[in-house]
Amino acid sequence: MSAIDAGRPVFLVGFMGSGKSSVGRALAARLGWVFADTDSLVEFASGRTIETIFRESGEGRFRELEWEALRAFERVERVVVATGGGSFLGVLPRAFMKREGVTAWLDVPLEVAYARSASEQGRPLWKTDDPVAFRVFFERRRAVYALADVRVDASHGMPEDVAARLEHALRH
Ligand code: S3P
Repeated sequence: MSAIDAGRPVFLVGFMGSGKSSVGRALAARLGWVFADTDSLVEFASGRTIETIFRESGEGRFRELEWEALRAFERVERVVVATGGGSFLGVLPRAFMKREGVTAWLDVPLEVAYARSASEQGRPLWKTDDPVAFRVFFERRRAVYALADVRVDASHGMPEDVAARLEHALRH
């Protein structure tokens, strides 16, 4: 039985600007499942924007809050979860997602992520003042995203198209 047939949560992972929220919403609509977004849950639970959390409390505190938000999906079924671009990097969150559900990587080249994140507002780790360092950061992360159960090329097509390809990959 596929993960979808079993109702196991789908955790979308990938770089900032890879389309996790828009594709996640489209996939949830296709399946008739609930959509959730850990960034929004963190903001809701803390009453602060991500930018403010980073500025006032630092990235470490943000990662704790993100991990707490993720743990809400323990033993939950039929939900598509868009995760923040850094959460899959953590050993515990990664193991949790793999145990509780199926992980899907939305793979995009850095140029596409750039184009989609033309406005850097609200993404404290989106730092392009040093393009070489940013590419190294991107490539390091790709190596970890590659540990996801399923990979989908999210560089082209509307979110609905990517969601359709993703559903196919998750069912086969
Ligand atoms: C982050 C990505 C952001 C958000 C935070 C940190 C990261 O989410 O969680 O700014 O470490 O890549 P998106 O991937 O939705 O932009």
